[in-house]
Amino acid sequence: MCGIVGYIGRQEAYPIIISGLKRLEYRGYDSAGISIANPSPTTVKCRGRVRDLEQKVGAPLHGSLGIGHTRWATHGEPNDGNAHPHTSQHGKFTLVHNGIIENYASLKLRLEKRGYTFVSETDTEVLVNLIEYIYMKGDVNPEVAVRLALTKVVGAYGLAIIAHDTPDRLIAARKGSPLVIGVGDGEFFVASDSTPIVEYTNRVIFLNDNDVAILGRNQMVLKTVHNDLLEPNIQQIDLDIEAIEKGGFDHFMLKEIFEQPRSIHDTFRGRLSAEYDIHLGGLLEHIPALKSAHRIIFVACGTSWHAAQMGKYLIEDLAQIAVEVEYASEFRYRNPVLRHNDVVMAISQSGETADTLAAIKLAKSKGALVLGICNVVGSSIARETVAGVYTHAGPEIGVASTKAFTAQVTVLIMMAILLAKKRRTISEEARRELVGELMLVPSKIERILELNPQVLKISKRFAQASNFLYLGRGCNFPVALEGALKLKEISYIHAEGYPAAEMKHGPIALIDETMPVVVIAIKDHSYDKIVSNIQEVKARKGIIIAIVTEGDTTIKSMADHVREIPASSEVVAGLLTVIPLQLLAYHIALLRGCNVDQPRNLAKSVTVE
Ligand code: G6P
Repeated sequence: MCGIVGYIGRQEAYPIIISGLKRLEYRGYDSAGISIANPSPTTVKCRGRVRDLEQKVGAPLHGSLGIGHTRWATHGEPNDGNAHPHTSQHGKFTLVHNGIIENYASLKLRLEKRGYTFVSETDTEVLVNLIEYIYMKGDVNPEVAVRLALTKVVGAYGLAIIAHDTPDRLIAARKGSPLVIGVGDGEFFVASDSTPIVEYTNRVIFLNDNDVAILGRNQMVLKTVHNDLLEPNIQQIDLDIEAIEKGGFDHFMLKEIFEQPRSIHDTFRGRLSAEYDIHLGGLLEHIPALKSAHRIIFVACGTSWHAAQMGKYLIEDLAQIAVEVEYASEFRYRNPVLRHNDVVMAISQSGETADTLAAIKLAKSKGALVLGICNVVGSSIARETVAGVYTHAGPEIGVASTKAFTAQVTVLIMMAILLAKKRRTISEEARRELVGELMLVPSKIERILELNPQVLKISKRFAQASNFLYLGRGCNFPVALEGALKLKEISYIHAEGYPAAEMKHGPIALIDETMPVVVIAIKDHSYDKIVSNIQEVKARKGIIIAIVTEGDTTIKSMADHVREIPASSEVVAGLLTVIPLQLLAYHIALLRGCNVDQPRNLAKSVTVE
């Protein structure tokens, strides 16, 4: 939540920061602001998007040192005053912050007693004034003031700070919220992730918790908040600028839906051999532990939690290992029981979700082996876990996750087949057949994407519905959950996903002639059961939109709308059935005039609990 950008160098900072903020808008987009030092900082901020900020600024600000922010409100509603950057009362420091200062209320009281007054409702304004107070009272240099203040703070922060008395320095600090430094030639960039940086340099440093970087144009000092010098670990990142642009699509979400044949291929590329063997290099060392695990416990949030549910069905079915799926936010606070041979596995697109990160730390503190499935290379979760698998889906910018989900499921399918082989719970023939099925998924998705105009047609029919029900069984139950989540998060229509049979225990009461019910009814082992569920809905005059296997005539004769997808093994079917549901949510949201890529109140990366 919240994106921050900073620049110090020889170029004009303003365009670099504005374009960086636009790349980070997926992290938050309720207000935006910028400060450019020349040499003293000019700050402009407002409620709204980065383009509103540009309008407010008018002619570009000049200067080669600056910071910027795009906000997802935690403390204080989105308005001009609460927007960042925040400047301290006596004008000594200006900063942008991503995270939450949990003890801000007590710090604020102490500062008020010392004569400070506050103009915003934010925790960040407390922090900037605390730094200033220490600077002025302690007669120390700005860097020391920042470090001392940070030792007094409880909570999470990614910070970029301008000290007005040293306008040739940019200070950055991290704890809990991600921060990347781009190392250029006579210039440094600071950003919440590497997308604003890759245009200029592929040399980056991922800051660790408690790191503070003091950046001049030609030098960088990296130390801990406790003043221990650190050796910067500069890494080369391989991020293609085209991957973070819309590439001719109207929205990132649509681009990412259409990218799935490629992104799934990228997820299994190099991991499936011509002999149909599966290699997950990151897990190699831990296969014995996984193979003999008493339980695998997935911890995740949101869409990643749905992928984990799919993983449970697959791993239990194929490899016969007990799997539990936990909401990271619940797991972290409920003193879970972990046995010595339980393996905890975190699943996260961003690798920065605060609750998932905290769940990992808790599991580690209880002595568990903690592995990860992550999309963002070098992210906090990737670094906090002992080992894991990168999904290689490429940057996902649309707030509603699409290609990251199918990449996670692809990894889980590979893991399930691999563990099944190791545990001898699958025949060689069946195993080869499943790997072959997985290889065919990208081309089958290509065919499903051709249904886009047909999905648009259905979307027009139901764009004004107020409720939706999604039903599925087995591996398609998590797909029903995911379909409902996609719809509600971007179109604001109330939607629920349910295991089809469980409908009788509640949701059936909602069904009448106005209720669209999306049923995933492909030919699998529960086909007959789902046909009965469709009849139950029809008997109550509900409207059935069914996703069926090509050539199915039975359901066609009962359902109101049918979309056919290619036949496949049940194991990979979720990768196919989810695609029409993503498209349905996309079109309905668009038809309702919603902001598809940046839905209200949501953020791509939830770095606060
Ligand atoms: C947010 C995003 C979702 C995502 C969830 C978990 O809610 O909007 O798309 O599924 O966080 O994020 P993660 O990065 O951990 O997968």
